[in-house]
Parts: sequence; structure tokens; C-alpha cells
Amino acid sequence: MFAITGITGKVGGEVARNLLAGNRPVRAVVRDLHKGEAWARRGCDLVRADISDAGALTSAFTGAESVFVLVPPNFDPSPDFHEARATAATLRSALAAARPGRVVYLSTIGAQATQSNLLTQHSIIEQVLGELSMPITFLRPGWFMDNCSWDIASATNDGVISSFLQPIDKPVPMVATADVARVAAELLQETWNGRRVVELEGPHRVTPNQIATTFADLLGRPVRMESVPRETWESLFKSQGMKNPTPRIKMLDGFNEGWIEFESAESGSRKGRVALEAVLRTLIESR
Ligand SMILES: NC(=O)c1ccc[n+]([C@@H]2O[C@H](COP(=O)([O-])OP(=O)(O)OC[C@H]3O[C@@H](n4cnc5c(N)ncnc54)[C@H](OP(=O)(O)O)[C@@H]3O)[C@@H](O)[C@H]2O)c1
Repeated sequence: MFAITGITGKVGGEVARNLLAGNRPVRAVVRDLHKGEAWARRGCDLVRADISDAGALTSAFTGAESVFVLVPPNFDPSPDFHEARATAATLRSALAAARPGRVVYLSTIGAQATQSNLLTQHSIIEQVLGELSMPITFLRPGWFMDNCSWDIASATNDGVISSFLQPIDKPVPMVATADVARVAAELLQETWNGRRVVELEGPHRVTPNQIATTFADLLGRPVRMESVPRETWESLFKSQGMKNPTPRIKMLDGFNEGWIEFESAESGSRKGRVALEAVLRTLIESR
């Protein structure tokens, strides 16, 4: 049986759909049982566990051949990342007690970076879970192409998209969540020893300008990309309610300056199959 956290979200849901399509038994780990009812109807075992509840996670992971661990995104962490440290300790204790056969942890590109930034949350959790004795894979995908869902309204209504990824003609390692989930489902069914890292990006790197031109083709209207000046980010993010924008700003700097990159560089990353156009088409059709 495969225990899947984050199953009501993008990646976890698609991981489960991949496993169910192969007739693999799935345990849906949800924090709200009502949100899991659709998974129960598809034949999944349904259990409730919050990511902060070691006891519930232990029950959820017990008896699993493989566990997919997805930590919910936190865009506004405390300066000392104490939320990630707490999550890491909770997951370690639950996994050590439940002793599933294998673990696939959804991490991120740049988890090995030494400069502090938003992705340091995954570095902290990788380090703690890497001490477990069971086989564990850290799946490190690039920037999700599906993040473009945030741009649909401005592309459609204004023909302008704001970009924090700069310069806007610089290729960025991006990947479709469909590829992330397909590869995660494959990894969950593999056997390996110890700790391993799998880095994943799409078939081609994507520039912000290419996102604008792809939107323009699909929407049948002009769309251009516009850089948001770096000096305005802090006040902008604070005006949007962030208490501690520094980690997010540093993450964007890391992508823009190139120090957020795969440990094995572009030549060493696994390549997905799904191109930007297919992702944007799906996002537009499902809006
Ligand atoms: N966006 C990117 O470019 C990118 C790139 C690399 C890695 N990542 C990583 O990918 C992950 C996000 O994946 P996603 O896009 O699939 O996420 P998502 O669609 O936002 O889904 C988040 C999932 O986490 C669940 N969740 C939220 N709070 C929870 C809690 N307290 N306890 C248990 N479950 C909880 C949600 O359940 P509910 O439905 O109940 O809310 C949902 O199933 C993050 O770890 C992020 O750092 C993202």
C-alpha cells in the first residue's frame, strides 16, 4: 500500500491518480476527512493526519510499502525557519516509528544551496530525514510551470504579466506538476538503498518571455512580460501581508543569479515530457 500525503493538492493528487491507474493500493492521507471522500469513492483507504501530528502520521504511515511525503508550502516562514524544523522533527519521529518500506520526499531544486532562502525549509527537512535508516529519495523538481495559474487573469484581461524571474529572456529550470507526479509515482514503486537525490525539470528550460508568447498564442491576444523592479519587492510583498519577505526575495535572487540550480546542473537532471504549452492550455481550459 502507498500512503500519499498532500493528496488533495496538485502533485499528491496526480501521484495518487498515477498509482490507481496501475491498480496500486493507495492510502489517502488528508487533514480534513470531507475533502478525502472523493478518494474513498475511488477505492482509497482514507486516514486523517495533519502534517504537525506525529501520532496521526505514524498511524497513516504504518504498513505502507512506500510513503510520499509532501510538506505544504509556507511562503512566509519565520526568520529562524522554526516551522520547518518542527515539521522535520515530526516527520522523522513518525517515519521512524511507522517504519514504511521506502520514502519519497518532495523537495525542490536548490535544496543543496548554502545561502539562506525560502527553499532552506526543504534543506532543513532533507537533512533531518536523511538521517533515517530506511531508503529515502529526495525528489527535487524545478519551478512548477503550473505556477502560471497566477498569471492567467492578468494575461487574459491586461495582456501583461509581472515577472520576478529576471532577466525575462533568461531560461529557468521549470517542470510540469504532471511530470513531477508521474516520476514520483515511478520512484515510489522502485527499490533502492539508502539516500538518493533525483533532480527533475521539463523537456526544455523556459524564459519568462516564452511564457508570455505561449499565453499570447493560446489566448489569441498580445501578451507581454514585464519585470517587477527588484527594489520594489520588499514593500510589495509586505503590502500583500507577508511578515518576513526576505526568504522569498532571496529565493528569487537565487534563481535570477543562478545559485539556485540543480546539484548535478542541467546536464545531470532527469527530463520530463510535458511542455509549457500543454500546461498553459490545461490551466486556461480549467479556469
Ligand atoms: N511551486 C513550485 O514551483 C515548487 C517547486 C518545487 C517544489 N515545490 C514544493 O511542492 C510542494 C507543494 O506541492 P503542491 O503544489 O502540490 O501543493 P498544493 O497543491 O498547494 O497542495 C498542498 C497540499 O498540502 C495539504 N496541506 C496543507 N496544510 C496541511 C497540513 N497542515 N497538514 C497536512 N496537509 C496539509 C493540502 O491539503 P488541503 O487540501 O486540506 O489544504 C494539499 O493537499 C511544496 O512542498 C513546495 O515547496 C513547489
